[in-house]
Amino acid sequence: MKAWRVGELGEPRAVLTLTDVSVPEPVGRQIVVRVLASAANFPDVLMCRGLYQVRPDLPFTPGVELCGEVVAVGPEVTRFAVGDRVLGGTSLPHGGFAEYAVLDEAVTFGAPASLDDAQAASLYIGYQTGWFALHRRAALQPGETLLVHAAAGGVGTAAVQLGKAAGARVIGVVGGPEKAAVARDLGADVVVDRHTEDFVAVVKDVTGGRGADVVFDPVGGQTYQRTTKCIAFEGRIVIIGFAGGEIQSAALNHALIKNYSIVGLHWGLYNVKAPALVAECHAELTALADAGRIGPLVSERLPLEAVADALQRLADGTTVGRVAYVAGE
Ligand SMILES: NC(=O)c1ccc[n+]([C@@H]2O[C@H](COP(=O)([O-])OP(=O)(O)OC[C@H]3O[C@@H](n4cnc5c(N)ncnc54)[C@H](OP(=O)(O)O)[C@@H]3O)[C@@H](O)[C@H]2O)c1
Repeated sequence: MKAWRVGELGEPRAVLTLTDVSVPEPVGRQIVVRVLASAANFPDVLMCRGLYQVRPDLPFTPGVELCGEVVAVGPEVTRFAVGDRVLGGTSLPHGGFAEYAVLDEAVTFGAPASLDDAQAASLYIGYQTGWFALHRRAALQPGETLLVHAAAGGVGTAAVQLGKAAGARVIGVVGGPEKAAVARDLGADVVVDRHTEDFVAVVKDVTGGRGADVVFDPVGGQTYQRTTKCIAFEGRIVIIGFAGGEIQSAALNHALIKNYSIVGLHWGLYNVKAPALVAECHAELTALADAGRIGPLVSERLPLEAVADALQRLADGTTVGRVAYVAGE
């Protein structure tokens, strides 16, 4: 089968090679799938660079989430059978940017029939992260103001949709007019183009000086520092990631003075510490998708050959929503 492999660390376009390898065999609770679609995530970029918390041995195939058809199951698998259409997180080194990939049964779920393959592939990491951030970590309430950074990105688009579904007023911050249009189409009530506007001033303006109740921050660095200037009394800033490249430090005296919370989220850890919550979340997301209240924005459906270039564009911050490899494209 064909699979992209990372043999040395660096920028995606430079280190990814499309190679012929053998189809993996499942052991234990492993499930081998024919990949129907696999969505590109920023952690794929960080893994190519060797900068992610997970550092697979080289060589490995990236592609952390997918939708696939089960073709073989390990002897301990009980919930899935050959032919099932599933989604979930891959077991590296057998990631989704290949014709076949490996999932662990514990992080495999039925794919909603209401979503096509690329959308189903994109319902996992971004939407689970958005759900845990807004509901479990920040306890977002209807009527509150939610500020979403990188609102046209993968996890950002999910947070905008989930925020609206939860009855919040959503302010999306994006880089550039095309991304602004995307955030607006997704339902963001207010959109700020960070290239031309100061989001702190806009947030203060549209909240009558109060600030945002909940902030979803996948960018970090100076974006986080500016966020603390427009966080509401008893607001919650959820730390999602550092796509801007700088891991910030927090001024805790400022958090004390203004009565706000800084809340971390490592969604993947729930798969280890509280897997039942992940399954519950998947059921909630499926119900929302079936009801048409959320739907992953897949901006590009690409053939396998296009993956290295797509990952580089994700790394460069020029993609919107999810970009997915779709078998047969
Ligand atoms: N905590 C968790 O459990 C968890 C789970 C999943 C993902 N994440 C993290 O969430 C972040 C976003 O992941 P994603 O896959 O959804 O990516 P993404 O948001 O689609 O892409 C990153 C976005 O960040 C913005 N950005 C700002 N400065 C940037 C820079 N210097 N370089 C690149 N992008 C920059 C860009 O949007 P604008 O131009 O619109 O600002 C860009 O589109 C990553 O840091 C990822 O590791 C965390």
